[in-house]
Amino acid sequence: MIRFGDPVITDRDLEAVTSVLRSGWLSMNKITKQFEEEVADFLGVRYTVAASSGSSALDIAFQVLEIQSGDEVILPAITYFAPVASAARAKAKIVLADIDQTTGTIDPEDVKRKITSNTRLIVTVDYAGISANYERLREISRGIPILEDGAEALGGTYCNKRLPTLGDVGILSFHSIKQVTCGEGGMVVTNNSRFVDHARVVRNQGELGEKYHHIRIGNNYRMPEYVAALGRSQFARIKVKIYHRKMLEQTYSSLLPATMKLSYRHCDPCLFFYPVLVQSECRDKVVQALNKMNIETRLAFKPVYLQPAFRSYSSQNLSLDGSKFPGADSFWSRIIALPLHERIMKKDVEVIVETIMSAISGEVKI
Ligand SMILES: Cc1ncc(COP(=O)(O)O)c(C=O)c1O
Repeated sequence: MIRFGDPVITDRDLEAVTSVLRSGWLSMNKITKQFEEEVADFLGVRYTVAASSGSSALDIAFQVLEIQSGDEVILPAITYFAPVASAARAKAKIVLADIDQTTGTIDPEDVKRKITSNTRLIVTVDYAGISANYERLREISRGIPILEDGAEALGGTYCNKRLPTLGDVGILSFHSIKQVTCGEGGMVVTNNSRFVDHARVVRNQGELGEKYHHIRIGNNYRMPEYVAALGRSQFARIKVKIYHRKMLEQTYSSLLPATMKLSYRHCDPCLFFYPVLVQSECRDKVVQALNKMNIETRLAFKPVYLQPAFRSYSSQNLSLDGSKFPGADSFWSRIIALPLHERIMKKDVEVIVETIMSAISGEVKI
């Protein structure tokens, strides 16, 4: 069985966690701080704030960026749902921009069309680890802050800068099948000292200074100490993890025809999964063929405008304004997310690609 995600937990990881459990101090403390410092050092960024998940990190980021009811926030039409849910919790007006179907990331030209005098934030998602086009987005955004959702992007770079450090604020996820895992965990990333102070307060119930003195409405977004211990131990192997993922990415890319691949010459990604595009009429057939070989896949991700959660949304909260998303429509009908992780070897990728190509050519009967 080749699972879509399958984390490797070493004896060192186990020892790191159990030693914290044995110590008797379980809630956020100095190991979390060390984890934050190590990630900041790796990313080349001034500040990081560990959180209980990538979704918590997004909620913190929305508060730090002071997004309020009615503010317009532009998000990609295709993304994992979390940043959209954070925008909804902030009571922002969600404005979707189409994606560039050659990269799976937000289309800067559609962002340009969607900017109004009420736009307060642009959220980018580094899809599968492929970075958005930050150069063009910065030209277009003219000072509107960018929140970079790099939950899928750890280990990749854009213009020699590590993802997710291209936004004014970035976030990471350490969910169980991400490049580095804590089981569940996340981090806010920024170079802005005002943002980091705010983020730390929001993470800790808005408390500042003396105990039980709350200056803001925050939440408990803290990362437990044994979770940070797992994160630190995993992070110590980041170079090996990146190397392995890149080797698999190159194997996939060398075996697949150009028409089935996304383009990421603008960056150097460390992919979270391998996105492949097949003709829409073949997609079910290919997924079934892989399934038959016990190879798990995902359809990542259903467009935001098709999500039932928004059916009852008023136009005050979700602005579609008759928008069309040709890039997202086409991408969604053709995308399959293939497994890419530490337990997969080159020969597994060969089997996966062979299965796909045979299903397409009709050699495999479903
Ligand atoms: C793009 C993106 N944003 C946010 C998240 C949320 O992260 P978490 O699952 O750690 O809450 C994910 C997780 O898969 C994601 O892929």
